Amino acid sequence: MNLHSVMVMTTLFLCGEGNGASSSYPIEGGPSSHPVIPGAVMHLFPRYGYLSLSMRVVPRNDTQNWIFLEPSKEVFLPSTVRIQQQSFTSNDNSLPLHNEFHIDLCEDVQQLVQAYFRRFNIEALDKPWHAFAGGWRTPSLAKYFGLDPVFVQGDYRYMLVRVLMVRSAGRADPMPNSTVMPNFANNLHSFRVKDYVSSFNFFNDVGTHYISSYLTGNSIYQVFVYDNQGFEAVKRRLSETGWVRSSYMAQLPYLLPLWVKHMGKVMVLNGKQQTVQSIREALTIRFLFSVYPNIFKMHDNAELVRKVEKYLKHEPDGLLGLELKTLDVIFKDQAKRKWFDETLQQTLQLWEVNLR
Ligand SMILES: *[C@@H]1O[C@H](CO)[C@@H](O)[C@H](O)[C@H]1NC(C)=O
Ligand SMILES: *[C@@H]1O[C@H](CO)[C@@H](O)[C@H](O)[C@H]1NC(C)=O
Repeated sequence: MNLHSVMVMTTLFLCGEGNGASSSYPIEGGPSSHPVIPGAVMHLFPRYGYLSLSMRVVPRNDTQNWIFLEPSKEVFLPSTVRIQQQSFTSNDNSLPLHNEFHIDLCEDVQQLVQAYFRRFNIEALDKPWHAFAGGWRTPSLAKYFGLDPVFVQGDYRYMLVRVLMVRSAGRADPMPNSTVMPNFANNLHSFRVKDYVSSFNFFNDVGTHYISSYLTGNSIYQVFVYDNQGFEAVKRRLSETGWVRSSYMAQLPYLLPLWVKHMGKVMVLNGKQQTVQSIREALTIRFLFSVYPNIFKMHDNAELVRKVEKYLKHEPDGLLGLELKTLDVIFKDQAKRKWFDETLQQTLQLWEVNLR
């Protein structure tokens, strides 16, 4: 086993840049009690704004291992949709293949939320993160980002640093002959163009979106809070020093706190209290007169990454990415498909407005 084979990549995002979600996930099917099922169909509206309650996308402080509790059903006729799943879990103790540092620089809390949900895409929705976090107020934001509430409300800038540990991925691709199971054939047949009630019935009885791809695993993250001046200093520093070069990255744990107003807690997407505590201790840094957990300590430190991986080995997965696509693909009648898309779009826009 070669410790040096650990891959630590660094990617830097400026919030507000295009959504970086990729649909070309390699793929699995983890041993969780409620896994994510590629191709499963769901109804986006009932929990719109609160999908974080039915999908494990933030730390929940429970010890359960569900990932996806959102009601969903098998709608596609199995022989007409191609399913791919892949697991990255290794049986031995060797290091996982996927440990990447992702750094997002965000101008405000909204951008922070947007960045957190960077790998979540919902077709027909401009702001997919609203579907998950639209209902979050200050206490939820503080809790999920590990911040003191004071730093959620004020005029602050944020740096979100994450290490994603991908364990499995899956995707579903409807084939050209894609259609529904016999028990939904009538819904498809009786769908009427220019009839809103027909659309709403279809959304309710069949659904609006299917799971096109997903990414599960665990993640460790930490949010650093700056005032505008500190934020500009960080941005300058990062662009000056050729950022991605690890020799500079190694200095970051010691440089960044110089400008920081508030350092959030090191967070774990899914881990028992005890595990989270062990990880925080492992990531603790002593610098000048302070002692604090800092995620950057993992950078370029294969041994530490390995240690953290061991702590997380027996913790259940959470959802790291999800792509939902609209169910319009099952309408072969172009007029029906168009009407489905139009009414879905209109309803989604209403929901967005209602959430504000
Ligand atoms: C998690 O739950 C336990 C037990 O209910 C509680 O003691 C602890 O304070 C909670 N931790 C967080 C971070 O909410
Ligand atoms: C759909 O197409 C695939 C690939 O051509 C084929 O294997 C499958 O049997 C077809 N299913 C039906 C129900 O026609």
